[in-house]
Amino acid sequence: MAEKNQSGATTSSAKRGVHGAWTSRWTFVMAATGSAVGLGNIWKFPYIVGENGGGAFVLVYLLCILLVGIPIMVAEVMLGRRGRQSPINTMRYLTEEAGLHGAWNAIGWLGVTAGLMILSYYAVIAGWALHYVGQMASGAFQGASAEQAGVIFGNLLADKNTLIYWQTIFLLLTMAVVIGGVTKGLGVAVRILMPMLFVLLMVLLVFGYQHGDFERGFSFLFSFNYQALTWEGVLEALGHAFFTLSLGMGAIMAYGAYMPEHARIGRTVLAVGFLDTLVALIAGLAIFPIVFANPTIEPGAGPGLMFVSLPVAFGNMTGGLLFGSFFFVLVTLAAWSSAISLIEPAVAYLVESKGFNRITANLSLGLVAWVVGLGSVLSFNEWADTRVAGFTFFEFMDFLTSSVMLPLTGLFIAIFVGWVMKPDTVREELGDESNRVFFSWRWVLRFVSPLLVLVVFVLGLYKTFW
Ligand code: TRP
Repeated sequence: MAEKNQSGATTSSAKRGVHGAWTSRWTFVMAATGSAVGLGNIWKFPYIVGENGGGAFVLVYLLCILLVGIPIMVAEVMLGRRGRQSPINTMRYLTEEAGLHGAWNAIGWLGVTAGLMILSYYAVIAGWALHYVGQMASGAFQGASAEQAGVIFGNLLADKNTLIYWQTIFLLLTMAVVIGGVTKGLGVAVRILMPMLFVLLMVLLVFGYQHGDFERGFSFLFSFNYQALTWEGVLEALGHAFFTLSLGMGAIMAYGAYMPEHARIGRTVLAVGFLDTLVALIAGLAIFPIVFANPTIEPGAGPGLMFVSLPVAFGNMTGGLLFGSFFFVLVTLAAWSSAISLIEPAVAYLVESKGFNRITANLSLGLVAWVVGLGSVLSFNEWADTRVAGFTFFEFMDFLTSSVMLPLTGLFIAIFVGWVMKPDTVREELGDESNRVFFSWRWVLRFVSPLLVLVVFVLGLYKTFW
């Protein structure tokens, strides 16, 4: 059965119905926020800020969110809602609709591949958080010094069986939800979990304020010290803007495909971008005061920052046993609601086009992510000294996806929507926006976002390797 959409082009209504739809705009906001708020905000943001010397990096990151992230997110949601299928088929449908060269389909493919690659290491890190729930609850960090906490973390990284165990559990959890369908389980869960996460972050913020060196933490995050900033850092900030908003790989496109017909995309996206940024900044404000209060913890400690400094804080705080375990439960849940969006686009594609059902699709893709993830597991122990271009396997996957594939796909999306798609089609899909909003958005998307991405991308790569 075929159905006319607004422009008169036909999409298959059978395909539209396969994956279901969000019940309201609000569910979309929560689902997209669930996707956006994850390890990127609570774990990665603070540690890359630390590695890049603080304030200037934060400023660049905020600019990237505003000038690149938000405009491209609008474009992605719009594409998804128009195509109403998995990113691969959405791009195929839209290129055919516009009579364009099939090479534009690469946007869909690049995105779906990047999603699986991210999931592979995402599950490993989320596994650490899962493991830490039990560690915190068992009192392993009660009264621990920063040094002792560092040792506990180091022991975990050295123990590949434990890492694989938790990585596997996390992937199984992710697949279980996606097998059950995103709409019902996730929509409800996310509405409860996100506010909880938020409340806990506030509790932690208060703790950091009372017990940590809040002033130093604050000025580290917000004072502008441009000397600490490098081009690699700028590229990392841009890549992280994509990463944290879940852009450039079809997650948001897939979620947009399940969005109600007449929801205002602009406001919705602003809400998601705002919430995501807020969580990242609060996480930074909660973590850095604690870091600076413990002279043995380095702000540039890297991926271990959250797994060393926070347990120390909790271990020395009344009620820390409870709050600490709870915190890592919530980190896990935030990672969970993100991981779901990493696998969903590929699942949707296999179901639409390759005759898989949700179970077989999840099992196959989960297996791929698991095997590739083993590389990341080993890069923390046995392969720690094996380096490609200076990167361990984990660092390489992270760099390749966040700093290369996401910005590239983002660039293509900006060009596709800004320059290639018919302006009328775009205007029609964003029909509820005022002229002023629409034309400012389109101008930024055509001129500012692609140029910024291109310049930063080329310079960043150049500086990283030469
Ligand atoms: N945004 C998530 C985070 O910050 C990670 C994530 C989920 C993601 N889906 C994505 C990143 C899609 C890139 C693309 O943790």
